[in-house]
Amino acid sequence: MNKNLLVLPGDGVGPEIMTEALKVLTAVNDKFSLGFTWSTGLIGGAAIDATGVPLPAETLVAAKAAGAVLLGAVGGPKWDALPMDKRPEKGLLGIRSELDLFANLRPAVLYPQLADASTLKPEVVSGLDLLIVRELTGGIYFGQPRGIRDNDGVRQGYNTYVYDENEIRRIGRVAFEAARVRSGRLCSVDKANVLEVTVLWREIMTELAAEYPDVTLSHMYVDNAAMQLVRAPKQFDVMVTGNMFGDILSDCASMLTGSIGMLPSASLDSNNRGMYEPIHGSAPDIAGKGVANPLATILSVAMMLRYSFSEEVAAAAIEQAVSDTLDSGLRTADIASEGVQVVGTQAMGDAVVAALLA
Ligand code: IPM
Ligand code: MG
Repeated sequence: MNKNLLVLPGDGVGPEIMTEALKVLTAVNDKFSLGFTWSTGLIGGAAIDATGVPLPAETLVAAKAAGAVLLGAVGGPKWDALPMDKRPEKGLLGIRSELDLFANLRPAVLYPQLADASTLKPEVVSGLDLLIVRELTGGIYFGQPRGIRDNDGVRQGYNTYVYDENEIRRIGRVAFEAARVRSGRLCSVDKANVLEVTVLWREIMTELAAEYPDVTLSHMYVDNAAMQLVRAPKQFDVMVTGNMFGDILSDCASMLTGSIGMLPSASLDSNNRGMYEPIHGSAPDIAGKGVANPLATILSVAMMLRYSFSEEVAAAAIEQAVSDTLDSGLRTADIASEGVQVVGTQAMGDAVVAALLA
């Protein structure tokens, strides 16, 4: 097993939260004698500043050679004026695509200690534990043709929403497999009343259901799914959807758990080789202030240990340490409610390490 990792801190709060995640990784590495080593690389705006491109060849080579990749976040106002194919986000999309990380797992779990931090009523979110399976290397994010063209003197922006049946089938299988080992309920989200791509999506998901008699498949239009997520989120267990709908619904789901600063993710290829990152972005408004919540990145380390390395004990130890830290009352600003002790990024990371070693 290749235990050499590539760490890509990226931009904005990325480096700050990654510092804390690496403290936690160091602690589990020692405690459980896991034998991980890692090196650091450039991606996004940091890579643009140093090399002129958002995904340097060297980073891609290192990522392909690594056992797994840990990523912070990319993007920021400094690079917003760059043309689309030179933007930091292109680095992230490029590495997802080049490594064929088509399966994006985004669990939204409410820690009971944070029921008050959610903007939804505690009874609506308490006990929430859902998994969004987002297709990550296709759909409108990657469809060709795309661009901004001149249409008789009027500028016209255009993108292409496209999925072939094989792309739908492989993400479908990941979702059915996930549902099988959870509650056995899978909801496929589409817009089959309007978009042909998702008529095919619905057809393939329905076909697959015959192979998974132990899983109950339902279908929902994306607009209704967005509403149901805030109305009665506990009706869902596993949701599967395309790239763009998954991007939107996972941000929405994150707020059920109190903060987008809590949600980790795994992006996997067909061999469970993967990249692990918080679902939040680079948060330029708070970057460098030492106030960002490092827990999503710390929990991404746990997902890495579980999915790419089958180190279940170490993964669970991290999750327990996060829970213990929340029990002790510490909160970063994004998950603070009245009467709690608000701490910064570093203190939160230190507390998780202390809980882990306690
Ligand atoms: C995410 C992010 C990315 C996406 C951006 C930064 C390109 O929003 O991982 O959800 O849209 O996939
Ligand atoms: Mg997003």
